[in-house]
Amino acid sequence: MNSKDIKIKFPNNFLWGAATAAHQIEGSNHNQWTIWELENAKDKSKESENQIGNYESWNRIKNDAMDPNNYVSGNLANHYEFYLQDFDLLKKMNMNAYRFSIEWSRIEPDCGVWDKKSINYYKSYVTELRKIGIEPIVTLFHFTLPVWFQDKGGFEKRSNTKYFTRFAKKVVNELGDSIKYIITINEPEIYAVQSYLRKDWPPAVYKPYKFWRVVNNLAYTHRQTTKAIRKVGSHYKLSIAKNSCYFYPADNNIFSRLSTSFLRYIEDDYFIKKFIRHCDFLGVNYYISQKVQSFNIQNPIEKVSDLNWSMTPGDIQFVLQRLYAKYKIPIIITENGLADNQDSNRRWWITQTILAIQNAIKNGVVVKGYLHWSLIDNFEWAYGKWPRFGLAEVNYKTGKRTLRPSAKWFGRVIKKIRDV
Ligand code: BGC
Repeated sequence: MNSKDIKIKFPNNFLWGAATAAHQIEGSNHNQWTIWELENAKDKSKESENQIGNYESWNRIKNDAMDPNNYVSGNLANHYEFYLQDFDLLKKMNMNAYRFSIEWSRIEPDCGVWDKKSINYYKSYVTELRKIGIEPIVTLFHFTLPVWFQDKGGFEKRSNTKYFTRFAKKVVNELGDSIKYIITINEPEIYAVQSYLRKDWPPAVYKPYKFWRVVNNLAYTHRQTTKAIRKVGSHYKLSIAKNSCYFYPADNNIFSRLSTSFLRYIEDDYFIKKFIRHCDFLGVNYYISQKVQSFNIQNPIEKVSDLNWSMTPGDIQFVLQRLYAKYKIPIIITENGLADNQDSNRRWWITQTILAIQNAIKNGVVVKGYLHWSLIDNFEWAYGKWPRFGLAEVNYKTGKRTLRPSAKWFGRVIKKIRDV
């Protein structure tokens, strides 16, 4: 893509950035995930061939996928220490926004005990971002929980919400005016599905009633947390980062069309209705679309990422259009990207995405920002370290970060768009 493809001007204050989450990059955390990783790493490495041996990328990834260390986050890229280096990457790509999460288990290692050092750490983290002209976008819950909170039953118990709102209040009281955008919860339903139905994430149980309870408690938690935050300050812009994929009918068959409507309702509307009145914008995470043939998903398999997800980046246009038409609230794309170890599709993906956002804007959708997932390679939850989502490659042995060619190109595109 070159500047002539950029037919409309993006709004001047459009947020161009990247996203991360604490546990996926910081290293040396202690939360419910760290415990679970150590307990399960061996089994996961043994089961890997069975589970993902059919992926197109298998031959390239199998050495990592079959190694138990792959499933233990450990030190990772040690972003906790080297965050300034990573902020430099944002600057190099001409970005003006960065989404990250604050690790609750660092701030409140025991119930009611605040860790001053960690609070100061995140304060200087935000100060440094501001210094270099980057808008911080803070996530409060991105899948990791302090062990004490999980032991109390986590989000399975509605009465536990008070602990989360207390943490949220602490964060906003400490960070005050230095932050404006806050995501209370990342992908609530994904968290609930993986942890309470699919047994992929801790506590890794199959309990449908708990799944529903957690989904509803997370919506309640968002409502309570936003009320608490608004009491601290009226300038905050609040949302959830909502996972959304684009369901579309494979054909004109009545069953394909009915299933599509049903799946759209379940994917988006059932949950969004529970929290949208308590948002100032809608955070949208888009990775994949799903082709619905009668009662099945039949995705095209021509072009897949390293995680075997079929790649249809342009469909983000339809997600944006659908959500905006329904909820009439500005949208920020809070995550979007692909696992692409060889960096062979990232540039194409970003091109398609920018063009799709342009089209959506042209069609009247108010889009306020685009945050690519992810700034650097990170720990991809149950898959471990082998999937490479980073704009910057991380050498886990030396800690060295290197912007991938697609990222350098993306940086030039951002500059051009921002200069138009
Ligand atoms: C999550 C990220 C994850 C990404 C890629 C999103 O579901 O918020 O934590 O790394 O997708 O799978």
